[in-house]
Amino acid sequence: MNNNNNNNKTYKGISSKKTVILGAHVVSPSVMELLPMEDMPLLDKRDQAIVIEEDVIKDIIPSSEAPFGEEWEVYDVRGAVVIPALTECHTHAIFAGDRAAEFHARIQGETYHDQQKKGGINATVSATRDATDEALLSSLKRWLEVFLGQGATAVEVKSGYGLSHDQEIRLLRIINRAKAEGHGVEVLPTYLGAHAVPRDAKSREDYIEEMIIKTLPMVKHENLAEFVDVFVASVAYSVEEADIIYNAAHKLGFKLKAHLWELEHDNSRELLEKYPFVSVDHLEFAQKEDLEVAFARGTVPVLLPLTAWHLGYNIRRTYEVIKELKGYFAISTDFNPGTSFSPSLWQAFTVAHIEFGLPIEELFFASTVYAAKALRLNDIGAIVPGSKADLVVLNVPSLDWLGYLHGINPVDMVFKNGSPVQ
Ligand code: NIG
Ligand code: FE
Repeated sequence: MNNNNNNNKTYKGISSKKTVILGAHVVSPSVMELLPMEDMPLLDKRDQAIVIEEDVIKDIIPSSEAPFGEEWEVYDVRGAVVIPALTECHTHAIFAGDRAAEFHARIQGETYHDQQKKGGINATVSATRDATDEALLSSLKRWLEVFLGQGATAVEVKSGYGLSHDQEIRLLRIINRAKAEGHGVEVLPTYLGAHAVPRDAKSREDYIEEMIIKTLPMVKHENLAEFVDVFVASVAYSVEEADIIYNAAHKLGFKLKAHLWELEHDNSRELLEKYPFVSVDHLEFAQKEDLEVAFARGTVPVLLPLTAWHLGYNIRRTYEVIKELKGYFAISTDFNPGTSFSPSLWQAFTVAHIEFGLPIEELFFASTVYAAKALRLNDIGAIVPGSKADLVVLNVPSLDWLGYLHGINPVDMVFKNGSPVQ
């Protein structure tokens, strides 16, 4: 990597005025729109110069035509593959403790359903409540650094291991501190108070009432989250309960996300018909009619291959329905201590590819342009003029190596807003 303009230094996280990345083998979705996956064109051009002004991509031109002069910060990547930065559109990255024992017991045959009764999400809730703000903040920041190192410059982070008004507000404030302090990663906070029913709640109704009367209005008032999510499942919240929560959240103007059809099928389609979801996530047990409604409403389905793999489910059937409907999908890690303890989208690529047979080019689109759409981000996810200069330089020669070479991080360098941050 050559930085051949030493007089005009860049500092971590601060964009230089004018930057050019020379000798790039640009591989990217060609457009920023929510097209059917099969219509998404792939841009694949060698020896390009990516011209960046402020933090925006101005042009992609042959290296031989690159601008030069004192004012340009030049990075010569010498033929390396350059892709748009990845987006992590579904994580539960703020928590304390671990559930390693549960994980190993599952390998020996215990089920996730059964574990929810004695441990599960509520076990992480206890550990999280016991942790100090500083411990939670430093753990979250550590994971954000890991996401960044894997090439993700936008990361959604859900609350959901506090499960009381005070504790959920605390977690969201800590997520927002990380957002304010973090350089390199754009953090998008989601309120997931309805992740499980807390063991110490007087009743389910009581906790739901607290969420809609007290917590949601405060989250809005303090601008602590952009999205509201509910885990709709037999082990968490029913469709009717979710309806009450979404109704309140929608009225307050939150964007909506949902954990749907992860462990069984239910009539959550009614929710999709009623509310404008930005994304619906998991979907292991989704039916064709469910996905038809999602596509009709511009909702992005998010597949979480690592969770399916951890829980012994298969996302192939859902993927085939998506293909049949000529739709699109995003992927994410679902990083959490219970069902997916991996902060690596490359690991998700590998599992989705080897275990479930999803094509690499589609996984690439799913983790860039479509993952950005799952957070309603319209300025990252593709290397096109006008998009933000969030870019990743890979140390593999082509997309073909992703999922094929595995167990190592293929990221050589990460640019955020036109400046190197990793
Ligand atoms: O996405 N589904 C709910 N939430 C997580 C699991 C959280 C946990 O088990 O701690 C998930 O799989
Ligand atoms: Fe999740």
